[in-house]
Amino acid sequence: MMKMTMIRLAIIAMSLFSFVETISCQQVLVVGDRLGWTIPPAGPLRPYDAWAASHTFVVGDILVFNFTNGDQDVARVTKEAFLTCNTTNPIQVNKTNPADFTLNSTGDWFFTSTLDKHCELGQKLAVHVLASGPRNYTVGGPLGWIVPPGGDIVYKSWARTKTFRLGDALEFLFINGTQDVAEVKKEDYDRCQTNNTIAVYSSSPVRIVLNTTGEHFYTSTYRDHCALGQKLAINVTSNTSSSSSSPTSSGLAFSPEAAMPPSTSGTSASGVVCAYMLTFFTFVAMVFFYY
Ligand SMILES: *[C@@H]1O[C@H](CO)[C@@H](O)[C@H](O)[C@H]1NC(C)=O
Ligand SMILES: *[C@@H]1O[C@H](CO)[C@@H](O)[C@H](O)[C@H]1NC(C)=O
Ligand SMILES: *[C@@H]1O[C@H](CO)[C@@H](O)[C@H](O)[C@H]1NC(C)=O
Ligand SMILES: *[C@@H]1O[C@H](CO)[C@@H](O)[C@H](O)[C@H]1NC(C)=O
Ligand SMILES: *[C@@H]1O[C@H](CO)[C@@H](O)[C@H](O)[C@H]1NC(C)=O
Ligand SMILES: *[C@@H]1O[C@H](CO)[C@@H](O)[C@H](O)[C@H]1NC(C)=O
Ligand SMILES: *[C@@H]1O[C@H](CO)[C@@H](O)[C@H](O)[C@H]1NC(C)=O
Ligand SMILES: *[C@@H]1O[C@H](CO)[C@@H](O)[C@H](O)[C@H]1NC(C)=O
Ligand SMILES: *[C@@H]1O[C@H](CO)[C@@H](O)[C@H](O)[C@H]1NC(C)=O
Ligand SMILES: *[C@@H]1O[C@H](CO)[C@@H](O)[C@H](O)[C@H]1NC(C)=O
Repeated sequence: MMKMTMIRLAIIAMSLFSFVETISCQQVLVVGDRLGWTIPPAGPLRPYDAWAASHTFVVGDILVFNFTNGDQDVARVTKEAFLTCNTTNPIQVNKTNPADFTLNSTGDWFFTSTLDKHCELGQKLAVHVLASGPRNYTVGGPLGWIVPPGGDIVYKSWARTKTFRLGDALEFLFINGTQDVAEVKKEDYDRCQTNNTIAVYSSSPVRIVLNTTGEHFYTSTYRDHCALGQKLAINVTSNTSSSSSSPTSSGLAFSPEAAMPPSTSGTSASGVVCAYMLTFFTFVAMVFFYY
């Protein structure tokens, strides 16, 4: 019973995750995740530093600040103002929740609150924004590289919505000694034979830069892992072609739209939709992981 529920939740979570990525045009990130945008709890922990360190920000991504109207605001400030907590002349202030900022240029972005002592009390966020270019994909998203609870559909649906391009990288995360990553030929992938691998990597994280176009097949050489669905097939396309004919391909990170600031209304509408979906997804994933 419990197992079935878990499997179902895993599938829902994975498909939602893929769906969000497909429609999301940009990466929509809720600052602080569940903490939201607030004065962080007193103590040595710097939750916004930790949050920023655990994400990669690329031009076109959207930061959503989630807070209580009246209790907080969000100010984008200069580096100097950020370091000295001088909020007298911010670059931009938003006082209405949710406030979203589209990161439309590379470099460092600094945020705090203009309200009394909030900056001094640690309500400040610095993010480094990279040019949109090659992407790193964590295989399986939050599940990582495991024997998937839902069978091979889990990695299939993860891969289906993504466009892998030359120069992108796959990152396989697992506990050392519990899995490995084997690149195999198509016929061995289909038959789950791991006695004829192209390459085997056993030390997590395994980072594989996709440097040839066409199909690539991965599994684990551990006994029965392939048969139980720990297998991934991807197609790598050239990174110079800009066409994306398939409706499920999400090549927006490389399209001109991603480099330009989309119209404000469009951005916030899709941003909000995506943000809510991400929240829901996070919830589902949490339920799954807490079992
Ligand atoms: C914002 O925070 C509230 C209260 O914690 C929460 O219910 C809501 O889901 C959050 N919204 C987003 C977009 O994260
Ligand atoms: C804060 O910054 C403003 C201009 O942005 C400047 O005029 C003011 O002197 C600064 N205040 C302090 C205390 O440094
Ligand atoms: C943020 O504030 C600016 C004005 O400072 C406004 O133009 C913009 O619509 C606001 N955006 C959001 C998402 O609140
Ligand atoms: C980023 O967006 C802001 C307003 O949202 C605009 O003033 C600015 O020119 C944009 N920067 C770039 C590099 O497009
Ligand atoms: C991808 O990962 C590599 C190695 O960890 C890192 O140097 C690079 O900045 C990452 N790129 C992106 C877009 O996250
Ligand atoms: C395309 O891939 C090649 C080979 O990995 C790389 O050298 C080049 O920088 C990539 N171009 C873009 C725009 O990502
Ligand atoms: C791998 O194993 C299969 C079945 O056990 C066998 O038919 C095949 O010849 C083996 N291949 C190699 C290269 O050893
Ligand atoms: C796996 O082992 C390698 C080499 O011993 C080590 O560098 C790496 O941190 C380990 N990874 C994990 C996830 O423990
Ligand atoms: C492609 O990547 C593999 C493994 O990462 C490496 O062994 C190989 O030399 C690379 N080939 C080229 C043409 O860069
Ligand atoms: C890769 O693309 C080709 C041609 O579109 C298709 O026949 C094949 O099934 C795809 N393979 C994978 C693993 O998606």
